[in-house]
Amino acid sequence: MRASFIPAGLLFLVITSQTLARPRQCRVISKGDGKDDAPALLAAVDNCGKGGTIILPSKNYTIAQPITTHLEHASLELHGFLSFTPNITYWVANSYRFPFQNQSISWHLTGHDFTVDGHKTGGVFGHGQTWYTWARGQGNLYGRPMSISITNATRGVVKNFNIIQPQFWSSLVWNSSEIVLRDFYVNATNFDTSANGSNWVQNTDGSDTYQSSNILYENWIYQGGDDCIAFKPNSTKIALRNISCFGGAGIAFGSIGQYPGELDIISDISIENVVTKPSMQNPMTAGAYFKSWIGVQVGLPPNGGGGGMGYCKNVTIRNLHTESTVPLSLTSNLSYSQLNQSYANTSTFLWDDIHFINISGSSATDRVIDFECSSKAPCKDWSFRDINLVPANNDNTDENYVCQNLNATGLDQCHG
Ligand SMILES: *[C@@H]1O[C@H](CO)[C@@H](O)[C@H](O)[C@H]1NC(C)=O
Ligand SMILES: *[C@@H]1O[C@H](CO)[C@@H](O)[C@H](O)[C@H]1NC(C)=O
Ligand SMILES: *[C@@H]1O[C@H](CO)[C@@H](O)[C@H](O)[C@H]1NC(C)=O
Ligand SMILES: *[C@@H]1O[C@H](CO)[C@@H](O)[C@H](O)[C@H]1NC(C)=O
Ligand SMILES: *[C@@H]1O[C@H](CO)[C@@H](O)[C@H](O)[C@H]1NC(C)=O
Ligand SMILES: *[C@@H]1O[C@H](CO)[C@@H](O)[C@H](O)[C@H]1NC(C)=O
Ligand SMILES: *[C@@H]1O[C@H](CO)[C@@H](O)[C@H](O)[C@H]1NC(C)=O
Ligand SMILES: *[C@@H]1O[C@H](CO)[C@@H](O)[C@H](O)[C@H]1NC(C)=O
Ligand SMILES: *[C@@H]1O[C@H](CO)[C@@H](O)[C@H](O)[C@H]1NC(C)=O
Ligand SMILES: *[C@@H]1O[C@H](CO)[C@@H](O)[C@H](O)[C@H]1NC(C)=O
Ligand SMILES: *[C@@H]1O[C@H](CO)[C@@H](O)[C@H](O)[C@H]1NC(C)=O
Ligand SMILES: *[C@@H]1O[C@H](CO)[C@@H](O)[C@H](O)[C@H]1NC(C)=O
Repeated sequence: MRASFIPAGLLFLVITSQTLARPRQCRVISKGDGKDDAPALLAAVDNCGKGGTIILPSKNYTIAQPITTHLEHASLELHGFLSFTPNITYWVANSYRFPFQNQSISWHLTGHDFTVDGHKTGGVFGHGQTWYTWARGQGNLYGRPMSISITNATRGVVKNFNIIQPQFWSSLVWNSSEIVLRDFYVNATNFDTSANGSNWVQNTDGSDTYQSSNILYENWIYQGGDDCIAFKPNSTKIALRNISCFGGAGIAFGSIGQYPGELDIISDISIENVVTKPSMQNPMTAGAYFKSWIGVQVGLPPNGGGGGMGYCKNVTIRNLHTESTVPLSLTSNLSYSQLNQSYANTSTFLWDDIHFINISGSSATDRVIDFECSSKAPCKDWSFRDINLVPANNDNTDENYVCQNLNATGLDQCHG
């Protein structure tokens, strides 16, 4: 009855302001039949991407062109998949370019203060098999696009998100800060039997960070054949929590130092509760691995390079369980193509202030640790606590540990 005492004029004002405050909503229904849904999606983002909500209720949207979705104080509710078409000729010619390693991108997510929710039923379907069969295990083929890049973004959350059969790297965080990627499921599986057991899901990284800061990865499941999560140049303040990686290369620092004269930084990395194990399709090569390029330039990126400088500093890896080829490793002599002994020990990239706490598991070889730091920049201030790694020969001798140009505390076997 109280309401009856509110003067009519005030009631009118209340209703009006509620009407004005109601966020705009745009719904996009898939056209079906493989017709391109990108124009309708982009129109909805134009109409509702500032202060509104874009709802995609259908199961499957065809995306036949590169898309940039810009959101400000807005949310994108994706209940089904954005299926990127598998026309290789088209995408090689038309993907967005990513200057680092001359790579490509099919979807940019830009803006600030946004949420993208895949509701566990949606995300990206990359039609990756067409790309895996095309590449036949060859790395970094030009024009093969990453599924999604969070680019030029601040204060964004992407959650409950699947990336199935990614074309290339599943995701990238580029020139962005204060981004949360939570509850992700990524799966890159090869079904082409002519692979004969070789790894055709190379380059299907779970996620990479580049020129970004304040990024949280939480609750991830990754299956694939490459880096689960990798830190590329200028990745700072990154946290990983509860990440399970099946197959591929584990958590990667780098590669870094690939561009001559460039200063590359990785710093303030905190990693907790990670499991890495083989998948039914691919071995697991590491729990965590560190990879820097030689100190001189040999060839050009993506697969050649070197001569960069910089440092990785302030890293803690806690509660890592790994069943892998070599659980922890560092190489300072990257060049995938140029294995020439004379370039060893030329890297000046410094691995500094790196700590391992509670690392358990086993290796499929007699090596559990293989750290080959460069004599030009010996690894500095490393420490170990509660390390319980069992080599295949089940015989914990110095042979199981390689620690070149590295004196760590807390690990007797690692004394230079
Ligand atoms: C989604 O549509 C594409 C055609 O654009 C088709 O190739 C794909 O199989 C569909 N996916 C599902 C899960 O229906
Ligand atoms: C693939 O893309 C190319 C280049 O854009 C185009 O000419 C061709 O018709 C497309 N193929 C299919 C099957 O859509
Ligand atoms: C990237 O690769 C393409 C195709 O090989 C080549 O034409 C182009 O010059 C490369 N760009 C750079 C910057 O290396
Ligand atoms: C990111 O910002 C740069 C610099 O303003 C701009 O050139 C680029 O187009 C932006 N990228 C996207 C995807 O909007
Ligand atoms: C990075 O993103 C911001 C927007 O968040 C933009 O202003 C800036 O130009 C971008 N820088 C580069 C190098 O793209
Ligand atoms: C990934 O997909 C393959 C093929 O569908 C499936 O067998 C496997 O269990 C999946 N991996 C995970 C971790 O769910
Ligand atoms: C794949 O394996 C089959 C059976 O072992 C063999 O005959 C064939 O030559 C192999 N193909 C390749 C490309 O290695
Ligand atoms: C860890 O992540 C997995 C996969 O997303 C999830 O099922 C599980 O509940 C998470 N665990 C915790 C403690 O949050
Ligand atoms: C990384 O950051 C350093 C220091 O700010 C800067 O000099 C360098 O150009 C950056 N490199 C890249 C690849 O962004
Ligand atoms: C090291 O990184 C952590 C985040 O992982 C941060 O909280 C801490 O302040 C950093 N330490 C220094 C000395 O910067
Ligand atoms: C490069 O490092 C790897 C291990 O990280 C080692 O096995 C290899 O012999 C090194 N190669 C050269 C040329 O130094
Ligand atoms: C490690 O310690 C040994 C023995 O004290 C010393 O000879 C060596 O120079 C040290 N190496 C590094 C990289 O500090």
